Amino acid sequence: LFLALCIFIAAYFFGSISSAILICKLRGLPDPRTQGSKNPGATNVLRMSDKPTALAVLIFDVLKGAIPVYGAFKLGVEPIYLGFIAISACLGHMHPIFFNFKGGKAVATAFGALAPISWGFALALIVTWVFVAKTTRYSSLAAIVTVSLAPLYTWVLKPLYTNSVTMLSILILIKHHSNIVRLIKGTEDKLSS
Ligand code: G3P
Repeated sequence: LFLALCIFIAAYFFGSISSAILICKLRGLPDPRTQGSKNPGATNVLRMSDKPTALAVLIFDVLKGAIPVYGAFKLGVEPIYLGFIAISACLGHMHPIFFNFKGGKAVATAFGALAPISWGFALALIVTWVFVAKTTRYSSLAAIVTVSLAPLYTWVLKPLYTNSVTMLSILILIKHHSNIVRLIKGTEDKLSS
């Protein structure tokens, strides 16, 4: 339990490292929290710059979730605690201690944190996201549909994690409230082809 608690806390601090803000700073770009959707995430960095920069943000954010959860699993932390570690990493991304607690929506971080649960589960999430993103060109809608289906996928594939995945999905859906309003109004930005 002590090890799980240490990793839980470390996951929050690691999750608090906002790659979008740091990478934009390195590239001489403005703070992503002041541009576009004002979200410090890969989608908004793509709006502000180019694919390699957005990809760097995406990979970093996925690792923020994957490293603590996979690390904890490898160190023998009991499976029941892994879900809490995943939530902690995402809360770090959403409310980063290093950036005035103004963070992102944690889609990539949640994916990284949940992927180690099972490869089948990770694949189901990727296929869902890519399908919705390709057909609608809305990154936010792809995330909304994917996180809405994630508890169902978990229940089928790894029932032990259904509660933590559901909590995470709710947190991410709440973070998408302004996207939901824009989608309804028809003013949400589409991904360029
Ligand atoms: O991963 C975040 C995405 O779902 C929405 O990003 O910038 O369009 O609000 P954004």
